[in-house]
Amino acid sequence: MHATHNELIKFFEITLKESLELNHKIDLFEKLNHNIVTESSREDFGDYQSNISLILSKIYQQKPRQIAEDFIDLLLKNKSILSICDSFEIAGPGFINIKLKSEIFINKLIDNVQCPLNGIPIVDKKSKIVIDFSSPNIAKEMHVGHLRSTIIGDSLARVFEIRGYEVMRLNHVGDWGTQFGMLITHLKDVYPEFLPNSKNIEIRDLVEFYKTSKKRFDNEDEFQERARAEVVKLQNGDPDSISAWKILCIESRKEFDAIYKTLNIKIEERGESFYNPYLKQVVEELKNKNLSVEDQGAKCVFLDGMTNKEGKKLPLIIQKNDGGFNYATTDLAALKYRFTKSPNGDGADRIIYVTDQGQSNHFAGVFQVATKANWIPKDCRVDHVPFGLVQGTDGKKLKTREGKTIKLKDLLTESVIRAKKDLIKRIKEENRKENDDFIQKTSKVIGIGAVKYADLSQNRITNYQFSFDKMLVLNGNTAPYLLYTLVRILGINRKRGSYSIAKIDQTVFFKEDSEWKLIKKLLKFDEVVISIEKDLMPNRLCNYLFELCQIFNRFYDQLPILKAESKTIFSRLLLCTLTEKTLKLSLDLLGIESLDRM
Ligand code: ARG
Repeated sequence: MHATHNELIKFFEITLKESLELNHKIDLFEKLNHNIVTESSREDFGDYQSNISLILSKIYQQKPRQIAEDFIDLLLKNKSILSICDSFEIAGPGFINIKLKSEIFINKLIDNVQCPLNGIPIVDKKSKIVIDFSSPNIAKEMHVGHLRSTIIGDSLARVFEIRGYEVMRLNHVGDWGTQFGMLITHLKDVYPEFLPNSKNIEIRDLVEFYKTSKKRFDNEDEFQERARAEVVKLQNGDPDSISAWKILCIESRKEFDAIYKTLNIKIEERGESFYNPYLKQVVEELKNKNLSVEDQGAKCVFLDGMTNKEGKKLPLIIQKNDGGFNYATTDLAALKYRFTKSPNGDGADRIIYVTDQGQSNHFAGVFQVATKANWIPKDCRVDHVPFGLVQGTDGKKLKTREGKTIKLKDLLTESVIRAKKDLIKRIKEENRKENDDFIQKTSKVIGIGAVKYADLSQNRITNYQFSFDKMLVLNGNTAPYLLYTLVRILGINRKRGSYSIAKIDQTVFFKEDSEWKLIKKLLKFDEVVISIEKDLMPNRLCNYLFELCQIFNRFYDQLPILKAESKTIFSRLLLCTLTEKTLKLSLDLLGIESLDRM
């Protein structure tokens, strides 16, 4: 039996329903569509429990315990059930408690120890998933919102990749739009001698550059006029304008890439400008499909179920009255392109967008219009993965002590510095000698891992308070705690000497409570990973890991491992090995590097 937890539940449900069929109570099938088998709420109740007799008792006006007895009689005659179950018991008013044979767990444990993916099933159909994440804007600051999108998007991509999907990680960079008019005009003013050759231009502070351009645009009429003309030139592909635009993109990219390198993020840049040639067609098609209307000179699609304060339908504006296209137009073109089969598109089966909650209405609108226009093929799906704000510990917008917005680079650097301080302190306390290389590498893994984990372990929908103090502690739901647990296990490995578990050639058995708690937790790993694919909540994996580490540490503190009776050592080492593998795999799914020592 190599079933996942959910498959086992299904199996019990089907068997119970089949027993009903034997009893000629087939008509009841429909009524039993809610969960009739669940995991036991308490371990001493067994592994699974069913309330089927309680439901039926109301319908038949019979005693539930009597019904339960009848069911158990039938289950005892079922060969497949008997091959996996140890016992059935009636509890309380008529619950059926099901206990699995211990060998079911032990066999799965052995399988998972030997399987590189710990039993995570690979999907049969290789669907293509586009994950649109990170997506900062050219010449603007990459802020903490983009950091969240980057971390969450990367982790989701890793989960889909491990399951065997074809994943396209797309960076929908904001590299097009009217703001380039002012940016290019300012650039031409500041660096006239270098353009159009565009060599050797290095804009040191892009954010400052953006601010100055904006100030000039708002205050200088003559500048504003030139900026507007520049937008038209850029849209018409004027070579000078294009090369100026490229400089701005290249300079921004340098900053983004530095962050991606620190965070170890792989992503393919395909900015808004890519969809430029498709915008006109999108607008035309919506018009031909009678979906868009003109409203005060702008082309709009009015949205069902989305209204303003006066109860009027909200529009999705696809072309402004000056003829310019919008953020939404680009997203419609992008969606269409991604779903279109190759060679004219990506041929995706699912698109996932990771942005802050503030864009929920935007995506709801885009999805609605795309559905009406028939651009989302049958069996394909789109998901917006929204997340809350990053706040300081005061619950307000994250700022530096001087009240300025925090630069991402500085934020990551500070985390590493703090991790390093903690590490050096610990090394001193423990009288260890470590070289610089070790300190450097270890503090980077801890510092960056802590920032990522602090973000991922939150339910992403809620706002989250960024606190270095909290994310770096060794005992708590933090990356350092998980890494520390891993290091503990690797320590056992180093001391294990001649004990090898490469071959499973000894009897595996468990008698202790803390062993059983650990084995049962370990075997839920696959289910957790699969669940993320459905609800796109990486915090499930974090919660699981935290609990797993707590259970492991209890096991480690309560029971001897290498000093145990010789016939028990092998079994306990197996538990350590599977915990180690589970931790390493999970950290990898969260985009966090592992450590051998810390
Ligand atoms: N550039 C946008 C921003 O910074 C995010 C883009 C998200 N992706 C998309 N397809 N709209 O808010």
